[in-house]
Amino acid sequence: MKRMEGGGFEARATMGTTKEEDKAVMTDENTSSLPAIFSSTNEKEQQVLECLKNVIDPDFGENIVNCGFVKVLKVSESGKDVALVLELTTPACPVKDEFNRLSKEFVKRLEWVDDVDVIMTASPKSAMADVPEAPPGLRGVKNIIAISSCKGGVGKSTTCVNLAMTLAQMGAKVGIFDADVYGPSLPTMITPAFDKLEMKEDGTITPVEYEGVKVVSFGYAGQGSAIMRGPMVSGLVNQLLTTSEWGELDYLLLDMPPGTGDIHLTLGQVVPITAAVVVTTPQRLAFIDVDKGVRMFAKLEVPCVAVVENMSTFTGDDGKVYRPFGRGSGKSICEAYDIPHLIEMPIEPGLSSGGDSGTPLSLSDPTGPIAALYQDIGACVVREVAKINSGRGPTAWEKSWTISTPRSARTTC
Ligand SMILES: Nc1ncnc2c1ncn2[C@@H]1O[C@H](COP(=O)(O)OP(=O)(O)OP(=O)(O)O)[C@@H](O)[C@H]1O
Ligand SMILES: [Mg+2]
Repeated sequence: MKRMEGGGFEARATMGTTKEEDKAVMTDENTSSLPAIFSSTNEKEQQVLECLKNVIDPDFGENIVNCGFVKVLKVSESGKDVALVLELTTPACPVKDEFNRLSKEFVKRLEWVDDVDVIMTASPKSAMADVPEAPPGLRGVKNIIAISSCKGGVGKSTTCVNLAMTLAQMGAKVGIFDADVYGPSLPTMITPAFDKLEMKEDGTITPVEYEGVKVVSFGYAGQGSAIMRGPMVSGLVNQLLTTSEWGELDYLLLDMPPGTGDIHLTLGQVVPITAAVVVTTPQRLAFIDVDKGVRMFAKLEVPCVAVVENMSTFTGDDGKVYRPFGRGSGKSICEAYDIPHLIEMPIEPGLSSGGDSGTPLSLSDPTGPIAALYQDIGACVVREVAKINSGRGPTAWEKSWTISTPRSARTTC
């Protein structure tokens, strides 16, 4: 099997055969239309499947065969070589290398196997699949993730930009929509070579691109922020989002403005937001504001999958770790609403200067400790979204109940 341009692949049963009819050419697209292989009447294939059942998806707690990831399984005519295609739910799967390695390792334990060729591919479900009236420019968007907090200045845009770069580094196709019309941050935080949105003759908008990430911000419309009334702003946000040609995206990140106003509700009504990442700071004051934000997502039936407690700590020149804002808001939010992941992000001057200079820290120092924390956030998002899409995440009813009802207010039956 060999890689093809554009992420597709060509799987050929070249192992010990030259027969033309044994050759199969597959792309990511037509692999996704293939049914999953759960069992086989061929004895050797069945043995391979049994071996693969030792590879467990840590998020689903299920083996990769029962998860439906095996899409192609071939044993060569010589009967010694095995070719597999494993189709995951996202190209940014944080355990894809582990799946690859373990699959080979277990299958090679069969005494008749000489060689194992594994191709990893992905076929994410589209967020727009169930939206018949979806605007054409958004039809290729698989997942929409809101980066939000009711509170201003807590680091939403910093989180959004660095997370977007990280997801792209993990292999996903990513876009950012800056929903803050009053004070768009993206024009300062990143520096695309060409920073003007172009409107084509048919009225569609071409996003600007930065390091492979597609970006739309009112700040690139050449007008800067403006004094507008609520309905005008909501209309503009709606227009910018829905007339942009996003193309194929695995994750579209929404950099939300502070508050729970018209823009939030408009976005929640215009597009199906898959999940939200909540950003807060450690103070109790932040908890009160962020609590409102989580409740708003509950009303929109959007599950919050991770909390980023930003500016949690800083390390002094003496090497000691200080907590200038106290501790606890992030943990309290997670506990109150059963949000599965908490990531504490320290105060890091490089994050601030990276934001000001237009090169996010996760790009300028991709192997540093801060980039590692953004990789943790990325892994949480990817995993939780995969669970939601597979139906293994919370149902709509559970979502709204869990999120809108603080644990302390619940009664057990
Ligand atoms: N962990 C951090 N360490 C140091 N500086 C940070 C950190 N997080 C954010 N900042 C800085 O704090 C400021 C506010 O961050 P940011 O603009 O991301 O917040 P925001 O929540 O998006 O604000 P707004 O509500 O205005 O949209 C920026 O100057 C940013 O560089
Ligand atoms: Mg912002």
